[in-house]
Amino acid sequence: MLRQKIKYKQMKNSIKTINIISIAIIVAIVSFFSSCNNSRKIHQISIIPRPERISIWDGNFELSSKTRILTESGSVEMQKLGKYLAKIINNATAFNIRVSDISEAKSIDNVIILSSNFSDEKLGDEGYKLQVDPTKITIQSNEPAGVFYGIQSLLQLVPNKILCKKIDGQEIDWEIPCLYIYDKPQYSYRGMHLDVSRHFFPKEFIKKFIDLMAMYKMNVFHWHLTDDNGWRIEIKKYPELTDICAWRVDREDQPWKNREQAKPGEKATYGGFYTQEEIKEIVEYARERNIEIIPEIEMPGHSSEIFAAFPELSCRGKKLEVQTGSLWPNIDVFCAGNEKTFEFLENVLSEVAELFPSDYIHIGGDETDKTRWKSCKKCQKRIKDEGLKDEEELQSYFIKRIEKFLDSKDKKLIGWDEILEGGLAPEATVMSWHGVDGGIEAAQQGHDVIMTPTSHCYFDYYQADPDFQPLAIGGFTTLKKVYSFNPTPPVLNDEEKKHILGAQGNIWTEYISTPEHAEYMSVPRMIALSEVVWTPKKRQNWNSFIKRLNDHYQRLEILDVNYCEGSYKIDITSKTDTAGKVSVCLESEIYNPEIHYTIDGSDPDINSPLYSKDFEIDKETIIKAGFFKDGNLIEKISEKSISVHKGLGKNLKVLRKL
Ligand code: ACM
Ligand code: ZN
Repeated sequence: MLRQKIKYKQMKNSIKTINIISIAIIVAIVSFFSSCNNSRKIHQISIIPRPERISIWDGNFELSSKTRILTESGSVEMQKLGKYLAKIINNATAFNIRVSDISEAKSIDNVIILSSNFSDEKLGDEGYKLQVDPTKITIQSNEPAGVFYGIQSLLQLVPNKILCKKIDGQEIDWEIPCLYIYDKPQYSYRGMHLDVSRHFFPKEFIKKFIDLMAMYKMNVFHWHLTDDNGWRIEIKKYPELTDICAWRVDREDQPWKNREQAKPGEKATYGGFYTQEEIKEIVEYARERNIEIIPEIEMPGHSSEIFAAFPELSCRGKKLEVQTGSLWPNIDVFCAGNEKTFEFLENVLSEVAELFPSDYIHIGGDETDKTRWKSCKKCQKRIKDEGLKDEEELQSYFIKRIEKFLDSKDKKLIGWDEILEGGLAPEATVMSWHGVDGGIEAAQQGHDVIMTPTSHCYFDYYQADPDFQPLAIGGFTTLKKVYSFNPTPPVLNDEEKKHILGAQGNIWTEYISTPEHAEYMSVPRMIALSEVVWTPKKRQNWNSFIKRLNDHYQRLEILDVNYCEGSYKIDITSKTDTAGKVSVCLESEIYNPEIHYTIDGSDPDINSPLYSKDFEIDKETIIKAGFFKDGNLIEKISEKSISVHKGLGKNLKVLRKL
């Protein structure tokens, strides 16, 4: 459909394009000459994710009370986006900038023009062109999503205070540097996941999370709505799910792993759920920000909360209490031999399919313990009747049957990589979390894949030295590690690579009980991931990223986001040149760190040499380095012994193997 539209628009816009090119050339020439007088103001451009192409010119556009937003003739979508942009600007500046249809404009001076009536096939559905001239800003795209992203980039070019909810009385030059950006994403799936079962998060936080995602051009919110610790979505046919299964006995005062299970008669008071009205509101809120919400309904495992109200759906038929914390292994799962299980799930999924316009429904499928299936008469009968080999194939039967049902609702199935066990359902998309191997296998079988390996994408893992961090589930995934991720494994051939739709960061919440903590674990790792999935690999650069990220911290503060600054740990590395000279490099994840170091074995303090560039050593040396902030040592001193010998940097020949 997009292709046809593009062809039609190509003719219509060719004259317009020539005009734009001529204007661009004139502006570039004028800019070149005016840059010769020394009045040039250097702007630091800190857009994240980094755009594919950017050219900066001399001069500025100045937002003022006279600025107007003009939208493509007759476009309701552009009107909406115009109002979205005007609201942000007006809140911060009190300018009262108006939005009007371009056909009603008396002049095109001091205007921001939004148009999705473009025809550049290479830009796809989400790309955009943004041009800032001294008197005019234009954002053009093929589809409204592109204009939305052009607006996000534009907002990152305006002084940070543009994000203030109300004017703070300061005189600000609302200048935007003249430039040209051509930008589009590398991956179509740029996701963040949030588990609201282990801990419940209110609607307002979900919206804040969505706003943050949108700011960094992420476009899929994977909403983990059900799990052993609570069911979180209203299903009209089964009110028990939210009356009973959404609530557990409150053990928030105890560590997750060692919580006492609920005792008979104890009142279940911790929990919550989203009503269908709230879900519709959030889906629409996300849609306005180009974010698709993929709901996850876990099956056949991670489903024991359901047996608090519907024990007959498990193999044992025993009523369970909703778990207060961790219970592992969790062997009570849906009975795959019971027709009632499928009747229940189909009824639930019918309502879910109605609520979420997404093409996809995530059905979980991870970590299903098969113990009960082995001894359950119904499950064993199913294996026999269906000619299945074992319980793995029974799981595959389960998922394939659910896929068939979803297909009847025009929905596609996504599952965690365990759905590979026993054979993949024909059209299933695989979310690869045990590393990338499951994703590779699925792509080689011709299935679509979303990469979310624990190694790079589990944001519930520690991001810095655990001794100085809030308790986490374990693991260690630093900001730099996230930034280094390549979602497309090089072992895949070109055809298989097309199946890698993108990547996703996961926030499991066993150890995360508040919105502030969820923000701390997500930001800035989500921001690093946004550049991984949006920016071409050759434009990704760690040093540039942390410099730009540093500029974003003030924005995050204005938005009241409880971000983590990353790891203060200092990496001590050395390199040897061809002459055998050894130089030492001290690095941290923080931009422009204040590092003091010693080379005599003593602990560094504020008076020790300040690291500004690599330094040479000529003998075996113990390097100690500390990260300082406001005169105080932060966290631990790093230490490394570096040896120097005559062979360093030389081509060595092994004369005798021992
Ligand atoms: C998972 O982390 N169990 C998908
Ligand atoms: Zn069973």
